[in-house]
Amino acid sequence: MSNSTRLCLVEDDEIMRASLRQRFNIEDIECVCFNNANEALESLLSTEYAALITDIRLPDMSGDKLFSSILDADKIPPPTIFITGYGTIDQAVSLLKLGANDYITKPFDLDELLDKLREVSPALFGDAEQSSTVLGVSTKMRQIKSTLDRLADHKVDILITGESGVGKEYAARYFANRSNQDTDRPFVALNCAALPEELLEAELFGHEKGAFTGATKSRRGVFEQASGGVLFLDEVGETSPRMQAKLLRSIQEREVQRIGSEEQIPVDLRIVYATNRDLKKMVANGEFREDLYFRINVAHIHIPPLRERKEDISWLAHRIVENYFHEHKERRLILPLSLRYLEKQHWPGNLRELSNAVERACILSPQEVLGPREFGASGGDEHGISSEQVNLKEAMEQYEKNLLQEKLEQHQWRIVETASSLGISRKSLWEKMKRYDISQSE
Ligand SMILES: Nc1ncnc2c1ncn2[C@@H]1O[C@H](COP(=O)(O)OP(=O)(O)OP(=O)(O)O)[C@@H](O)[C@H]1O
Ligand SMILES: [Mg+2]
Repeated sequence: MSNSTRLCLVEDDEIMRASLRQRFNIEDIECVCFNNANEALESLLSTEYAALITDIRLPDMSGDKLFSSILDADKIPPPTIFITGYGTIDQAVSLLKLGANDYITKPFDLDELLDKLREVSPALFGDAEQSSTVLGVSTKMRQIKSTLDRLADHKVDILITGESGVGKEYAARYFANRSNQDTDRPFVALNCAALPEELLEAELFGHEKGAFTGATKSRRGVFEQASGGVLFLDEVGETSPRMQAKLLRSIQEREVQRIGSEEQIPVDLRIVYATNRDLKKMVANGEFREDLYFRINVAHIHIPPLRERKEDISWLAHRIVENYFHEHKERRLILPLSLRYLEKQHWPGNLRELSNAVERACILSPQEVLGPREFGASGGDEHGISSEQVNLKEAMEQYEKNLLQEKLEQHQWRIVETASSLGISRKSLWEKMKRYDISQSE
């Protein structure tokens, strides 16, 4: 993620450039201006920017060419907004396909541009809270992030609860990075539910050589491995009463005793516990030690399920599409309609399920544009898209109609040329014109 808070502006119109610069000044945004694409490109290849705003029409090279030149140089462009003179749908779609985050049509309102800018690059607006979108954009997740930031500065252990797949481990890793600052201290994760008791005990506390059959050499447990860093104990609610007692001792005393040894080894670490069980209820039912519960419940963070923070759905979907692009160099574009569909789903598997669904759609979709169908919506889906929203078919038809009209005008209504520019036959162009009732007199 970019650490820069600088904006790159490429605009050849002097008046426009000056007024944008003035407004960015007022907003306290550091803006580097260029009046041509070549100089901007040189700077973009050597300097990190938090965002790029570029006019499409420039004297030496078009704005979209500038953008693809960054990609050609194997650099990841900063979040980009294009300024375009023509508000045509096909141009907009092709810019978005190219990887632009947004575009704005002249003449525009500066506030409108700032809103878009805030959306694509919160870091530019300086406010740490605003740019704190690592865990999510919802109010709830921003609060959790700032709580974790605060806790990172104190020497406490934390307990993270939440349904499966809400991002408990993800949050723990974030916390560990914060606590450890930039040193490369260890982060060790252990799932307490994944091992039978004897193995879990050896895994937690380590063992000496010959402590049991198969112990051919001595080994440190996760407490020792994580010393100096953070230990993540996942599914801590699944441990047996005997293991709970042993855990309590080590957590309390900050020392461990390897199996087969008398020696107490001191450990200096922070522990993050996680569970999707209701520990309080388990205490009431006698399934979890009360003293251990109090010991690990000093700072408790509950991560709500995705369905209770729907704003994070489209944020995460975009993030995954971006990762997909970085990994596979293939662009995918999620239609707003698809985002609305995703927001309406229940997501019992939370972020894990949504991540998988978006990744699957990216891989399986034969085209760049991901419609609701790519996410499993069936035609006219009453469960997915409500009747007040247009359905995909209507949206696609409207798009097709506009595109045809645009292309026909571009080619002065010469059918053969237009058909070939669209890559379809003359007959099929005629048929479509008839179907959409398009004629020159319009
Ligand atoms: N803020 C986030 N941004 C991007 N991806 C995330 C985020 N939070 C979680 N994920 C992804 O969602 C998936 C589930 O996250 P994680 O493993 O942290 O959940 P969990 O609560 O520990 O789940 P479980 O209870 O099943 O162990 C992972 O693939 C993780 O990378
Ligand atoms: Mg987990």
